[in-house]
Amino acid sequence: MNGSNEMTLSFSARSENEAFARIAVAAFVSQLDPTLEELNDLKTAVSEAVTNAIIHGYENDPTCEVTIEARIEGDSVSLTVSDSGRGIEDLELARQPLYTSKPELERSGMGFTIMENFMDRFEVSSRIDGGTRVAMLKRIESKKALYN
Ligand SMILES: Nc1ncnc2c1ncn2[C@@H]1O[C@H](COP(=O)(O)OP(=O)(O)O)[C@@H](O)[C@H]1O
Ligand SMILES: [Mg+2]
Repeated sequence: MNGSNEMTLSFSARSENEAFARIAVAAFVSQLDPTLEELNDLKTAVSEAVTNAIIHGYENDPTCEVTIEARIEGDSVSLTVSDSGRGIEDLELARQPLYTSKPELERSGMGFTIMENFMDRFEVSSRIDGGTRVAMLKRIESKKALYN
């Protein structure tokens, strides 16, 4: 493929849209012919980032919007998941495995750790009352390359 291929998706901050978002991203990335494992890693990372935007960023306010930008370039897909919600006070603390600010919701506190481990690059930036943006990249070793 010459150049890059991009898509942008914005949707209401409703938990029903978590599944939609991860399937939409998977469909977009399918042109790279990912393995099932690669696809599952990507879907899980998207799901964690979108869930965070909805429940933490927006506290489940469905009038708010989550935006995903995806770009395929060569054999890689880069993704950003952003919200303009409440933001994160202490990023270092938030990224610790098992840390959650909502223990009452039986959250695992593993969302950021999962994103970091399932993707090849992971970055999060946030501003109090300005929102949060997670940027991730994954290289896809296409099935064709494996079987040829
Ligand atoms: N988009 C976001 N907006 C505001 N706070 C967030 C966002 N994403 C994560 N956080 C904060 O970071 C913490 C850790 O996130 P995560 O590792 O996914 O664990 P969990 O979602 O299980 O709490 C959350 O508990 C929350 O306080
Ligand atoms: Mg989470």
